[in-house]
Amino acid sequence: MFRFLQWLLRRERLLRFASPLFGRFNPFLREHRSNPHATWQSLREAEPVYRSRIFGAWVLTRYDDVLHVLRDQNFTTDRSGVPLMQLISRLTRNDPEFSATIERNLLTTDGADHLRLRGLVSKAFTPRRIEQLRPKLQAVVDDLLDRAGENGEMDLIRDLAHPLPVTAIAELLGVPSRDRDLFRAWSADLVQLLDPLQGRGGMAPPRRANRELFAYFKPLLAERRANPRDDLLSAMIAVEEDGRSLSELDLLALSTLLLVAGHETTANLIGNAVVALLRHRDERKRLAEDPALITRAVDEFLRYDGPIQMTDRAVREDCVIGGKQIRKGQLVAVVLSAANRDPERFSDPDRLDLGRVDNHHLSFGQGNHFCLGSQLAKLEAEIAIGTLVRRFPDFTGNPDPPGWIRSIILRGPVALPLRLA
Ligand code: HEM
Repeated sequence: MFRFLQWLLRRERLLRFASPLFGRFNPFLREHRSNPHATWQSLREAEPVYRSRIFGAWVLTRYDDVLHVLRDQNFTTDRSGVPLMQLISRLTRNDPEFSATIERNLLTTDGADHLRLRGLVSKAFTPRRIEQLRPKLQAVVDDLLDRAGENGEMDLIRDLAHPLPVTAIAELLGVPSRDRDLFRAWSADLVQLLDPLQGRGGMAPPRRANRELFAYFKPLLAERRANPRDDLLSAMIAVEEDGRSLSELDLLALSTLLLVAGHETTANLIGNAVVALLRHRDERKRLAEDPALITRAVDEFLRYDGPIQMTDRAVREDCVIGGKQIRKGQLVAVVLSAANRDPERFSDPDRLDLGRVDNHHLSFGQGNHFCLGSQLAKLEAEIAIGTLVRRFPDFTGNPDPPGWIRSIILRGPVALPLRLA
């Protein structure tokens, strides 16, 4: 069933023919992938609280509405009543480890369960632990760029944007970085869970990746229980509150979530940022001349073209948003990328301004589920982009990448060849 839907959604001509069924929002078309901001702008201007019948969801594109939904407890991450989640639940029922990854992670629990889990992980995921990674990450970026420099060219995505976050998450968790190719492959398969309809091979690839990843982590967890080290795995094993600690299944599901959440997002942030720098030579020059701008620049890259387009919530009780009646049990998709370019909130929102102040973008979400890895992601992006611009300020490449990821949620180029003059 999934395989058939996935096959169908790759038939561009068919999708074009069926476009009227999608109304104002057809995220499967090539033009949406290459420029989603045009879709978000037209939705925000025409119908900022839009009911997409084909998806059975509301699509919200105004900053204030998105912020409201992310902060208000009437909107929950527990989507167990939503039909697509129920279908996935049925498909994974006979595989408790796979369903734990999907249903027991931070992003899908809510209320007391989520608070307990998040409280425990946050105790282990400290700012000190992140900052300690800085010299290692700088060395990784220097090494990757040395190699690229020798060749005079690179594929930014393959040679920098992916290896860096995989190494970062491997270092943080305390798994050998020599296994990063395994991590990269598992993560690529698991990330299909963010948008199962646009994956390939049905549910088989993420299910297999989950099985292999759990099998990889189990002996590692046993080893850390016996011989704790100064790493996140040992810290997560050790945390305890009111006599309760994280169960083995929690630890496995969390490690898996951290791998995927920490890898694909950051890689695409770096990819989108470099596309933006190819398109805005004046801003690149500004950054090259003033490297201290990098902190603000990374926030602007997040706002201007963030890697996570949207997230969603299920509605607990009937409510009204923007004059529209929204019913209990319905799904609300909040488009972070649309909110980030709302002219009511940001002046000149379609302009890339690396020195932008008052930049409260929503790329890391907001409220109880605010991204746990935001500091790590920013650190990686600062080092990767800052070093690239410092060492190769005149890099060139096609500002229109050969393709964009097929996903409603993730945004990023599939490849980005650069010449490093
Ligand atoms: C540019 C990079 C990143 C972006 C844009 C991003 C974005 C987000 C967003 C939007 C959410 C909230 C989703 C929601 O409310 O439904 C989130 C949650 C989360 N992120 Fe990130 N993320 C990034 C990097 C990372 C990294 C590096 C890690 C960890 C290593 C990470 C771990 C998490 C976790 C564990 C959650 C769940 C928090 C919770 O539900 O309590 N993220 N992220």
